[in-house]
Amino acid sequence: MKTLLENLESWKGLSDSQQALIFARETERRRSTRLFQTFYPETGPLRRELYPRHMEFFRAGAKYNERAARCANRVGKTIGMGGYELTCHLTGDYPEWWEGRRFPGQIKAWMAGRTNETTRDIVQAKMLGPIVYEGSRKRVAGTGLIPGERLGIPTWKQGVANMVDTITVKHKCGELSLLGVKAYKQGRGSFEGVEQDVIWLDEEPPMDVYGECLIRTMTTNGIIMLTFTPLLGIDEVVLSFMPKEMRPAA
Ligand SMILES: Nc1ncnc2c1ncn2[C@@H]1O[C@H](COP(=O)(O)OP(=O)(O)O)[C@@H](O)[C@H]1O
Ligand SMILES: [Mg+2]
Repeated sequence: MKTLLENLESWKGLSDSQQALIFARETERRRSTRLFQTFYPETGPLRRELYPRHMEFFRAGAKYNERAARCANRVGKTIGMGGYELTCHLTGDYPEWWEGRRFPGQIKAWMAGRTNETTRDIVQAKMLGPIVYEGSRKRVAGTGLIPGERLGIPTWKQGVANMVDTITVKHKCGELSLLGVKAYKQGRGSFEGVEQDVIWLDEEPPMDVYGECLIRTMTTNGIIMLTFTPLLGIDEVVLSFMPKEMRPAA
């Protein structure tokens, strides 16, 4: 209601029904930018004790720099694991029950999927919400997992419609985290660059891309999270996460 309070005089001039409408819209806007806070409550039908694997995935982050969640479709890998944890690191808003990895301040992160288009339509949409226009200005709605009021103005990728290149996220320490959006199809070379604290790969990456991501996180003691359904059979990256006795004979 901040904007309304700032305009108290014009607010007073409105009829009851106009006030009620504005209030309802504002409530809805606030609700839709609070998706993150609806996840993993203590009680109720979505209570976190029903997600032991998800909790194990988070906890393992305190100990391991590389993690992979290899699960069935629709179990909540994208939103419930990778997206949720990345949001915690970007904003610093770790829930009180968090036992996983913690970064002390703002971070640099990448999130990536297979192609520009799938990354835009899945990972970007789930984290940032759909594209909206304010007049002629294009922005993301901020109704995804990262609370909208924390998002800065995105920069856009060249040559692919409506795909975010980078966006800032306000960390609770007051500084800005930086999130980059990437796709494996753009090749190993597009994963070169500055060091990163967190890299989230949604869907199985090729080994050369994975190798680049390892290098990017080495000097920061950063983490890599992989979330995927093994549709490609068992490839090199998956194998590297399996205990020796479970690997098929070469
Ligand atoms: N912990 C959770 N609490 C509430 N809803 C969830 C949770 N995890 C996933 N969902 C919902 O389930 C659906 C599938 O989740 P998603 O992360 O896309 O699955 P996957 O990537 O495993 O296919 C999404 O619509 C998401 O909003
Ligand atoms: Mg998914």
